[in-house]
Amino acid sequence: MKSDLLDVQRLNVRFGPVHAVRDVSFSVRRGETVGVVGESGSGKSTTMLAVLGLHPKKQANITSDRLILGDDDLATASEKAMRDIRGRKAAVIFQDPLAALNPLYTAGYQIAEVLIRHRGMDRAAADAEARQLLDRVGVPDAARRAKQYPHQFSGGMRQRVMIAMALAGRPELLIADEPTTALDVTVQAELVRLIRELQAETNMGLVWITHDLSLMARVADRVLVMYAGSIVEEAPADMLYARPRHPYTAGLLGSISRLDQPRGQRAKAIPGMPPALDKPIAGCAFAPRCPLRFEKCSEAPPLFATGEKSAAACWHLTGADA
Ligand SMILES: Nc1ncnc2c1ncn2[C@@H]1O[C@H](COP(=O)(O)OP(=O)(O)OP(=O)(O)O)[C@@H](O)[C@H]1O
Ligand SMILES: [Mg+2]
Repeated sequence: MKSDLLDVQRLNVRFGPVHAVRDVSFSVRRGETVGVVGESGSGKSTTMLAVLGLHPKKQANITSDRLILGDDDLATASEKAMRDIRGRKAAVIFQDPLAALNPLYTAGYQIAEVLIRHRGMDRAAADAEARQLLDRVGVPDAARRAKQYPHQFSGGMRQRVMIAMALAGRPELLIADEPTTALDVTVQAELVRLIRELQAETNMGLVWITHDLSLMARVADRVLVMYAGSIVEEAPADMLYARPRHPYTAGLLGSISRLDQPRGQRAKAIPGMPPALDKPIAGCAFAPRCPLRFEKCSEAPPLFATGEKSAAACWHLTGADA
């Protein structure tokens, strides 16, 4: 599918022998929310960190056929260019805001730094705008809070500071990697609403990684399902939930929170384990756990179109099982 914001083709990430991301292709349009789901270790974070050039060069071997964000070719961008792109064009919010915030500087100072660096403001304008941003993300008494250090904020407030910092550069692409998982449900709901509100205002593309499938159903336009480093299914969210086409997706939906259950319910795991990623995977990576496996599954299935904007990697979709 043609994208007007992010276009990733055949992305691979290796950490030594560990082949963590395998031929992953996807795109994000402006204003669109793309959800990413999959069990722990399936490569969700590794994929998105690779897009943003956040893996240490020494550890990660990254290749791709295409890695385009707007007008920028991320595959060939220098480290300096990438630093500018992060913050100005793309930003990420993580589950752990302490990892993103510097403990030595006040919240207001850190947000102002982004404004000075990426939006060319002077110190006074940046300080004023930082206070406004804190206010905007729901930090009460923003003028006083701007002068406080990250450890002086509660978890939910710290998350808001990180969101303010990520949004300060007015990124065109925001990657949210489980940003609300550690928070209680009311705070979580509020932050989700806030991020979506800001998205609607700025038309940014949003990639949302989460384990929470009922949250996903509410926020995502389109969902990518990852298994063992690969995308095994991709579909508009309503289609995916109404009719999952890959047995792994069906397993996730069947065993995890359904729409009619209280949100935030965690996985009742699908029996078995994903394969080790440090050896070649023979055939379909999900086959050993798949209730529908048959002979053909000893070959790796490519992605088959299941609709205009959807695809799944399963031999059952070809009638090969007939
Ligand atoms: N720096 C690294 N060195 C070696 N292996 C790594 C490194 N970073 C990630 N991996 C491996 O890559 C695989 C994918 O990990 P990743 O963190 O992307 O999974 P995830 O889908 O984000 O999982 P979670 O839901 O737990 O966040 C895992 O097997 C992980 O151990
Ligand atoms: Mg992760």
